Amino acid sequence: MEILWGDETLFRNEEVFDPEYLPQAILHRDTQINDLALSLRPALNGISPGHILCVGPPSTGKTTVVKYVLEKLEEYDVATVYLRCPILRTSYNVFSKIFEEIGGKVPPQRGVPLFKLLSEIGDQLGQRVLIVALDDINFSYRKTC
Ligand SMILES: Nc1ncnc2c1ncn2[C@@H]1O[C@H](COP(=O)(O)OP(=O)(O)OP(=O)(O)O)[C@@H](O)[C@H]1O
Ligand SMILES: [Mg+2]
Repeated sequence: MEILWGDETLFRNEEVFDPEYLPQAILHRDTQINDLALSLRPALNGISPGHILCVGPPSTGKTTVVKYVLEKLEEYDVATVYLRCPILRTSYNVFSKIFEEIGGKVPPQRGVPLFKLLSEIGDQLGQRVLIVALDDINFSYRKTC
């Protein structure tokens, strides 16, 4: 089938469909970036910031802004984890993913109590503050484990 080999495409840049894609310039979001950075600033001094809820119409840059600010925080030795809630589904999966991101290894799928997982995450963090972004939390899990 010749059509499979053709290089015609409707898309100028298919990379933008990648969930990991971040635009080179974030337009018209300076206020939101600054507000978020200000709210998270205590983390630079080892203090846990309060919870922050980012809301707004679809596709207006909520995820983009959060990822951008998390990347910046990493430069200041703050531990950050970005998670998409709909694909993780359960709170145990969320903590497993945090464990994996912080500790660099996958925890056992079962048999490890949640408190042990949390304690090991704490050990890995040491004095660092951990910022967790729970994206699309409104599509989140219903079960507790
Ligand atoms: N201010 C912006 N400047 C440049 N690109 C943007 C901006 N806002 C959104 N985009 C682009 O639009 C797309 C959607 O953005 P993003 O996923 O951050 O929106 P969202 O608000 O998180 O959407 P949703 O409500 O669906 O979660 C992405 O490709 C992103 O790069
Ligand atoms: Mg989003």
